[in-house]
Amino acid sequence: MDFKERVAEIFTSIETDLSLEDALLLIETPPSPDMGDFAVPCFKFAKKYRKSPTAIAAELTEKIGNVEEFEKIESMGPYVNFFVDKKHYAEKILKTAFKEKEGYGSTNVGEGKSVIVEFSSPNIAKPFHIGHIRTTIIGNSIYKIYKYLGYNTITINHLGDYGTQFGMLISAYKKWGSPEIVEAIEKNPIQELLKLYVKYNQEMEEHPEYKDEARYWFKELENGNEEAIKLWTWFREVSLMEFNRVYDMLNIKFDSYAGESFYSDKMPAVMKELEEKGLLKDSQGAKIVELQEFGLTDAVVQKSDGSTLYVTRDIAAAKYRKETYDFYKNIYVVGAPQKLHFEQWRKIINLMGYEWSDDCVHVMFGTVSLEDGVLSTRKGRVVFLEDVLNKAIEKTTEIINDRNTDLENKEEVAKQVGIGAVIFQELFNNRIKDYTFSWEKTLSFEGETGPYVQYTYARTCSILRKAEQEVNDNVDYSILTDKEAFNVIKKLDGFKSSVLGAHDKYEPFFITRYIVGLAQEFNRFYHECPIIVEDKEIKKARLLLTKTVNTVLKKGMELLGMEAPERM
Ligand code: ARG
Repeated sequence: MDFKERVAEIFTSIETDLSLEDALLLIETPPSPDMGDFAVPCFKFAKKYRKSPTAIAAELTEKIGNVEEFEKIESMGPYVNFFVDKKHYAEKILKTAFKEKEGYGSTNVGEGKSVIVEFSSPNIAKPFHIGHIRTTIIGNSIYKIYKYLGYNTITINHLGDYGTQFGMLISAYKKWGSPEIVEAIEKNPIQELLKLYVKYNQEMEEHPEYKDEARYWFKELENGNEEAIKLWTWFREVSLMEFNRVYDMLNIKFDSYAGESFYSDKMPAVMKELEEKGLLKDSQGAKIVELQEFGLTDAVVQKSDGSTLYVTRDIAAAKYRKETYDFYKNIYVVGAPQKLHFEQWRKIINLMGYEWSDDCVHVMFGTVSLEDGVLSTRKGRVVFLEDVLNKAIEKTTEIINDRNTDLENKEEVAKQVGIGAVIFQELFNNRIKDYTFSWEKTLSFEGETGPYVQYTYARTCSILRKAEQEVNDNVDYSILTDKEAFNVIKKLDGFKSSVLGAHDKYEPFFITRYIVGLAQEFNRFYHECPIIVEDKEIKKARLLLTKTVNTVLKKGMELLGMEAPERM
């Protein structure tokens, strides 16, 4: 139980009509310390008691009386203000953190529940571009948060490895394929396949028959034509190799790569079920599910040539996932432009009679644009994620070279910091907000950035190394009641609720903001309160605080998918 929960508990024991949850929402953090550490406003009880909020605050305060963990509880205007007993508070938080170690921010909410986190899901033969950075990084963080909270997690990369674009690619390859092209594709799969795809699209304008040919080849692929399958398999394999390079850089692994093609043989069953449940309508030879009465546009689930579509594969995928994993939640981290798609899809599943459609969540996000000069896009319009990551590492190497010359593993650190910076920047705002990527904002060692948090973490590591003594929780806690130490401790107290908030709202940025705030508080403490000092008791107490900050910063970064170098 953190202190806020304790305040809620005390308050609701007097004001029994109020639930614990509502009390937690009601509790505020006063703007200045002379108004206490927590405050409960009493406006909402005026109706019930037919009294002024000020009178109510005074009465409730009187009823609460003295409570051990609090130095005082007093009313001020319409507020009941709680002042924690600093020593007691420090002891409680730091002892708990010391005991729980890595698990300090966790709870057991996830026990016995399986959660699927689907993210990244790039399209084969189309670029893995800077836009994909969002789903990849947000998804990975959501997965880590759920895992930390005890869920059984399954990560899925729902590869875009099926669909008419493969008809185009196969047809293009059959027209223009040559040993040189094969070699080029092996070397630079996505880029070269993209070229083929773009060329085919262009030529289609002059040769309308190309469109039919592409359709023909996709149909052949669906029908199991050997040549089509062979080419498709090759395209897929080489593309995956390239994607995996990026995943390795980001330290991301998937439990499953069951993408769109995985469901191709499950289409007939889905179509049959839709038919049997009376959901299909004919529309000029195509099959649709009517959704207008639900405020959505109708969804085409099968084209007139009999081939199935993106949404149909998603229906099959959801059913398969439910049967295979019996999920408690099935989370899709996909951009906001696909909002309608997911609404249609969820409605269809619901109409099929599956109540678990409510457990399927579309976690969407806004777009990222690049500030001028972020990358020279020599490869045309498209910005590749891998290039952004490499550039981040390159730039960080320069910065590190300027700063610190005796670092042993510079290359490794540059990688951790460069990539960490990109991750942190990506997770800094709430998901839905569009943002502009700039190197300056991302890579600075000052301000609210990844390198700043990592640097603070490295600082705690260095202090702990220099101290040359075991840290334990047997310390004089009254030493940690000064303003700076106390502010750090208050921040530490909020870790769990920031993790839970991120979990509830699928918003890793709660944790991003949290760790940068903790880093700032720690640095203030560090500048005001020397840690490695002669006085043994002071040293011991401040080291315990440093150690706790060290553990929480590390865990926080880990939950975002960042690495935490011990020296930088
Ligand atoms: N491949 C798609 C894209 O890059 C995203 C797939 C999202 N997941 C899904 N189950 N539909 O746009």
